[in-house]
Amino acid sequence: MSVLVTGGAGYIGSHMVLALMDAGQDVCVIDNLTTGYRWAIPQEVTFIEADVGDEAAVSAAIEQHGVDAVVHFAGSIVVPESVSDPLGYYHNNTVNSRSLIETCVKTGVKNMIFSSTAAVYGTPEVSPVTEATPTEPISPYGASKLMTEWMLRDTAFAHDFNYVALRYFNVAGADPKGRSGQSNPAATHLLKALMRTALGISDHMKIFGRDYDTRDGTCIRDYIHVSDLIGAHLAALKYLRGGGESGIFNCGYGHGCTVLEAIDAVERVLQQKINVVDADRRAGDPPELVSVADKARKVLGWTPQYDNLDVIVQTAYAWEQALTARIDAAE
Ligand code: UFG
Repeated sequence: MSVLVTGGAGYIGSHMVLALMDAGQDVCVIDNLTTGYRWAIPQEVTFIEADVGDEAAVSAAIEQHGVDAVVHFAGSIVVPESVSDPLGYYHNNTVNSRSLIETCVKTGVKNMIFSSTAAVYGTPEVSPVTEATPTEPISPYGASKLMTEWMLRDTAFAHDFNYVALRYFNVAGADPKGRSGQSNPAATHLLKALMRTALGISDHMKIFGRDYDTRDGTCIRDYIHVSDLIGAHLAALKYLRGGGESGIFNCGYGHGCTVLEAIDAVERVLQQKINVVDADRRAGDPPELVSVADKARKVLGWTPQYDNLDVIVQTAYAWEQALTARIDAAE
């Protein structure tokens, strides 16, 4: 019994690989290294450099390692990039997922955990959102992920195959043991921008809009620590292996913070002023995106442990420092 992790060299996938190893599980990784890093995968883990759409490579990995569950992280994740390159996103996220699902069906893998996103909700009219809130993605990224959810649903109906799709809210923070974190210098997420500014890599960070109809005028998001998100994947794996039914689950804490509150937390935790600049609203940003995530707690038995913005900031900062030291040493 072993777990195949696609995208295991990336930010979230690498945390999953570490958690599976910590739990004593057999794990192998497929990643094409377009945005991931070979060094993010421990040397003792079997690594296959391939695309998830490469049916021969995926089948071989499944058969050689006795894979019974696939955790599918691989994909493209930059919302504005998906607007300028929709076909690239439908290829990487939808077409390749179709191939991976088909390979699972052909090789008899019965369990899949899929990285979906809160972007499937688009700009919801209600907040917080439940899994039953209408899905109306406003970007090719969100649509590409929603289409994969549909393929999973229909495949589970037609075949001996079960899945859990986890709709991630705003994933942030890093491994509390300092073994992995967000390493992509092109990442534009709020916490990454704040850490880069705190370390002087960027001169300032921009606040994208202060005129939203929220408590302080800036957007509200439900930031979830990456280790808690991985906890939801481990719970989903246990659930599926135990014969649990297919389902879709929000992954967030059920409460959010504004951009200004996040900046305050960073300044308080790091005891440092952050240089901020006001900027226009960013296209497509919903004012508020907060989850109702009770279903994952009830059905999967998920118990978050890091529901604390200060911990998110501390771990993200420690990782960004380690990453900077690594880059300096390599130069
Ligand atoms: N923000 C800033 N300045 C920055 C970066 C972000 O003010 O430098 C603001 C954004 O405008 C937004 C909030 O901080 O209000 C969070 O922005 P992020 O870029 O960190 O995250 P998003 O909410 O835009 O995106 C996240 C995921 C996507 C997912 C989306 C769903 O990263 O993968 O939620 O809406 F699709």
